[in-house]
Amino acid sequence: MEEQIIIEGNTPLTGEVNISGAKNSALVIIAAALLSKGDVYLDNVPNLTDILTIIKLLKYIGADVSFENNSCYINAKNINENVAPYELVSTMRASFFTLGPLLARFGEAKMPLPGGCAIGSRPVDIHLKGFKALGADVEIENGLAIVKADKLVGAKIYLDFPSVGATENILMAAAFAEGTSVIENVAREPEVVDLANFLNSMGARIIGAGTPTIIVEGVQNLGSTKYKIMPDRIEAGSFMIAGAASGGDIIVNHAEEKVLHSLISKMLEAGVKVNILSDDKIRVIGKNCHLKSVNLKTLPYPGFFTDLQSQMVALLARAEGTSIVHETVFENRFMYVDELNRMGADIRIESNFAIIKGVEKLSGAPVKATDLRAAAALAISAFLAEGETIITGLEHLDRGYESFTSKCSNLGANIRRVPMEKPLVKAK
Ligand code: EPZ
Repeated sequence: MEEQIIIEGNTPLTGEVNISGAKNSALVIIAAALLSKGDVYLDNVPNLTDILTIIKLLKYIGADVSFENNSCYINAKNINENVAPYELVSTMRASFFTLGPLLARFGEAKMPLPGGCAIGSRPVDIHLKGFKALGADVEIENGLAIVKADKLVGAKIYLDFPSVGATENILMAAAFAEGTSVIENVAREPEVVDLANFLNSMGARIIGAGTPTIIVEGVQNLGSTKYKIMPDRIEAGSFMIAGAASGGDIIVNHAEEKVLHSLISKMLEAGVKVNILSDDKIRVIGKNCHLKSVNLKTLPYPGFFTDLQSQMVALLARAEGTSIVHETVFENRFMYVDELNRMGADIRIESNFAIIKGVEKLSGAPVKATDLRAAAALAISAFLAEGETIITGLEHLDRGYESFTSKCSNLGANIRRVPMEKPLVKAK
């Protein structure tokens, strides 16, 4: 039965929230566990639909996987399949992360090309170019990427764009390539660092993660490990923005200041009070703050996160003055703006720019989420709007936010998740 979230607005959030493990680290680390023939124990794995999807994929391939209470056990010794099913890859493009490990393990893998999604066409050309550089043959046939290599050989690889997924997929293949790989213009996201640390904990030899150049010494195989997934910086940022936008006063636990500099800087510029209580505890005070307009541009890390763009626009919808937000990472990540305007926001889209004229107030309305970060942005707007907001499209929210409704109600939000009203039936 489809569900909807109902939020009564005008509720400043107060109290403490504990951030879960990072979805975008857990997904790629679970895929990377395919490289090991030993026992892999992961902690702080968030309970999200995307995690359940990649676990389903690993089981399909023949890995032994169990997942409960945010702990995941994986043993990929007996994997026996190197073709992933289309329906899993098309529902979650991160399934494509299994291509690098399967190529490294079997010397051949077939992976359905992930389709585009709401935010963009999401090509994988940089991934495939990296595999070719390592000595693989790559063919595209019937919507499948067919990648074969008698032997992967270390190489010098330059990424045309610091793609997170391509960096991670190529890194996983290079871990088993013979000799040294030097991968340049790589993504510097913290999740790439988490992946490298995880691979090194199993015996890989990787240096430079988090910098523009990663160097990998190939090894023959990888062993067992116990590893804790890093906290989710996007969830942390989403709640920090919610606390500010709602005019509240919240403490976000496991919000690591060292990976949130771009957000903290923009929030301070907008007039929000941000107190760094420790290296992973941040207090955000929106109460009695006069929000001011700011301009921002999304960029690869350490620039401002594209995954916090929609949440920030929800905050700026009520900031005094006009803000300009430039989305440079994805080509279509403003679809949620129509929904914000239905709540009374005054936002105009010009190509990849959002021009946001601050308004006095927003009013609650029935709205629909178009992607997982847009779902968070709509909830943020609902907290500060007058009246009731009904949010549907929760399948997007459940992909990236663990226990979202209970976390918000623990912060004092007037929020409930209920089965959708029966669709109106046309009178006969
Ligand atoms: C990862 O996606 C994240 N997903 C995304 O998070 C995040 O928005 C994105 O990185 C950017 O930070 C996961 O980690 C599972 P990219 P990814 O490759 O790897 C172009 C969320 O909300 N590109 O860095 O797919 C691409 O079209 C999700 O949690 C190519 O042109 O992102 C895009 O414009 C959404 N060719 C840009 O690079 C390629 O081969 C960034 O994509 C690959 C990418």
